[in-house]
Amino acid sequence: MREFDIAKMFDHKNVLITGGLGFIGSTVARYLVQKSSARIVLVDSLIPDYGGNLFNINGIEERMHVNIADVRDENTMNNIVKKQDVIFNLAGTSSHVDSMKDPFTDLDINCRSQLSILEACRKHNPNVKIVFSGTRGEYGRADYLPVDEKHPLHPTDVNGINNMAGEWYHILYNNVYDIRATSLRLTNTYGPRHQMKHSKQGFLNWFIRLAMEDKEIPIYGDGAQKRDFNFVDDVAMALMIAAADDKANGRIYNLGTLEPVSVADIARMIIKELGQGRIKFVPFPEDKKRIEIWDFYSDYGKIKDELGWKPSTSLARGLKDTIRFYKNNKEHYW
Ligand SMILES: NC(=O)c1ccc[n+]([C@@H]2O[C@H](COP(=O)([O-])OP(=O)(O)OC[C@H]3O[C@@H](n4cnc5c(N)ncnc54)[C@H](O)[C@@H]3O)[C@@H](O)[C@H]2O)c1
Repeated sequence: MREFDIAKMFDHKNVLITGGLGFIGSTVARYLVQKSSARIVLVDSLIPDYGGNLFNINGIEERMHVNIADVRDENTMNNIVKKQDVIFNLAGTSSHVDSMKDPFTDLDINCRSQLSILEACRKHNPNVKIVFSGTRGEYGRADYLPVDEKHPLHPTDVNGINNMAGEWYHILYNNVYDIRATSLRLTNTYGPRHQMKHSKQGFLNWFIRLAMEDKEIPIYGDGAQKRDFNFVDDVAMALMIAAADDKANGRIYNLGTLEPVSVADIARMIIKELGQGRIKFVPFPEDKKRIEIWDFYSDYGKIKDELGWKPSTSLARGLKDTIRFYKNNKEHYW
């Protein structure tokens, strides 16, 4: 990857991170604190079932202002967006199953709130740059692999549809109101500081918990479906590059990796790394099977060519670092 100078990109900037106490948001905050003099505000609702955790900013909390608030609250957002140079817009829910059980909460957070945040920017801070975290769920099942940005969008669940709308509001406001916006379509992201309370926000971290407890890892079907995984530091870097580079304005980029791995193999890698845990193949639960996307991995060539980003952490390295983190900090995540 090209060398990126985070200090040059963010020194003296006012940066707002929605969902800033979550997994990806807190990782961005850590980079900004360590490498720049950015003035940072986090907004997070800390709704218990989601990924927000005050321990995620342990040791850096003095360097930022934390606002426990909900992005659905328009008055709060109208005030908070003022004077910000950059917004990392990462507050969202990513559970596919929950989005089917409770579609209106998913709609309110991933779609309606996105529009109200953009309206807040249009009225109170049209010079801001805003980066949205979209999802590979916008594509649904792959018509071809690897999936590039030209692939049709036909989501298999409510979460994918709401993210698609949330993303396109950003692009629309870029095009019509010149509010500079970029969307990154994230694939499976894993690493330290992901919530470990349930499996609804991604299976890799959940597999790590089960193996750390020496439990069975349930693999649905034969587990042969392939997925790609980005280490959270690489994702944070992509978000920062997209925020800083005006070439990204109005653009949508996939993230991804060159190492697609099957679900069963990822479980085997975790078990091998930990020296414990075991796989149990089980029938696919019907509610999950109906929204399953099977083989999916992304082509990240566009962001590589246009912005110079590529993932730099191998799966083997990322798994080691993630496991070490949870061994040291288990009590804050279990
Ligand atoms: N982790 C992944 O694999 C992945 C993949 C695709 C997209 N994404 C998207 O990236 C973003 C960040 O994901 P993450 O993995 O860090 O998840 P996370 O749950 O750890 O972080 C999201 C944060 O948003 C906060 N939040 C949720 N609803 C809120 C609301 N209404 N108001 C204020 N704060 C709210 C949560 O408390 C949480 O801290 C999300 O929008 C997610 O949909 C993540």
